[in-house]
Amino acid sequence: MSQPVNRVFSGVQPTGNLHLGNYLGAITRFVEMQRSHDCIYCVVDLHAITQDRAVWGGPERLAHSTYEVTAAFLAAGIDPTKHIVFNQSRVPEHAELAWIFNCIARLGWLNRMTQFKEKAGKDRENASVGLFAYPNLMAADILAYRATHVPVGDDQKQHLELTRDIAQKFNNDFADSIRDAGYEDGFFPLPEPLIVGPATRVMSLRDGAAKMSKSDPSDLSRINLRDDADQIAKKIRKARTDPEPLPSETAGLAERPGAANLVGIFAALAGCSQDKVLSEFGGAQFSVFKPALAELAVEKLSPIGAEMNRLMADKAAIDEVLKDGAERAHAIAEPIYREVRKIVGFLV
Ligand code: TYM
Repeated sequence: MSQPVNRVFSGVQPTGNLHLGNYLGAITRFVEMQRSHDCIYCVVDLHAITQDRAVWGGPERLAHSTYEVTAAFLAAGIDPTKHIVFNQSRVPEHAELAWIFNCIARLGWLNRMTQFKEKAGKDRENASVGLFAYPNLMAADILAYRATHVPVGDDQKQHLELTRDIAQKFNNDFADSIRDAGYEDGFFPLPEPLIVGPATRVMSLRDGAAKMSKSDPSDLSRINLRDDADQIAKKIRKARTDPEPLPSETAGLAERPGAANLVGIFAALAGCSQDKVLSEFGGAQFSVFKPALAELAVEKLSPIGAEMNRLMADKAAIDEVLKDGAERAHAIAEPIYREVRKIVGFLV
């Protein structure tokens, strides 16, 4: 079994509303990667249930969100016939490999994960074991396909570093049996995070110091992919900024998180650099910049929201895409996991 050189894997949780951060930080990158790589995109439903039921919303809501994330993938331009789109729980190798990784990763490594600390909050004793072990499952998602590249937003960087540590430790711990099985350079690749572009960390519209997130109680903090034109315009109009006009160079955005966020969003939506945005809007007041941003956001996002709405009217068709994707994903993961079992010493 030769090492894939060009396989992309990434995932999105079906919890809450998909927002502009998910779109600009991840999904637009997923679309681009299709040109140069074989891509596997996963709706990570096993991850969704690691938090309290109140967060993921119960069985009906979970199923609905699974369709919705898939609809967003397709509406944004992911081609499920040339690449693979599926939901995680349909491919058992994710959970099985995660168990092995539970035995590879060290408690000390997981204790350092900032996302666990944020999500568990003050009442850590009451967090699920799944939430703590979440990064091991994420490593299994990627390595079950021996994926080499992982497009993600900035908040996933630490989890990707942990994935590399797990791959490395597995390769070291089982170096003998890996060599005996005919692999010269270790079994798992050390996957590369792809965290690039002007919107790797889109911030809340209400607080430039907090990440835009699905779980923020204020809907005004984020632009949801299915918001209509009026909602998008209203949220941008109400975005918290400061009274100064925009600077002419990016250096002038330091210490101005609200302004920097809107300029970053503009650049990402327009597909240009922040410098280019400021060469056009430097010196302009927000009363000029915000309507221009709202117009651009509506132009780019409305067709996606409309297509998502169209797709959501036929959930059976979405499910066909997911089932077909799961079969093709399984066909890749099954022989890889069989090798892992042999390497570990399980009878196969
Ligand atoms: P999730 O579902 O929280 O987010 C999906 C993707 O969106 C990115 N993202 C953002 N990017 C920019 N600005 C933001 N404000 C913002 N908020 C979210 C995330 O970085 C992510 O790329 N653990 C992952 C899901 C996952 C995964 C994987 C990803 C599970 N297994 C394997 C890659 C590979 C998560 O919770 O993403």
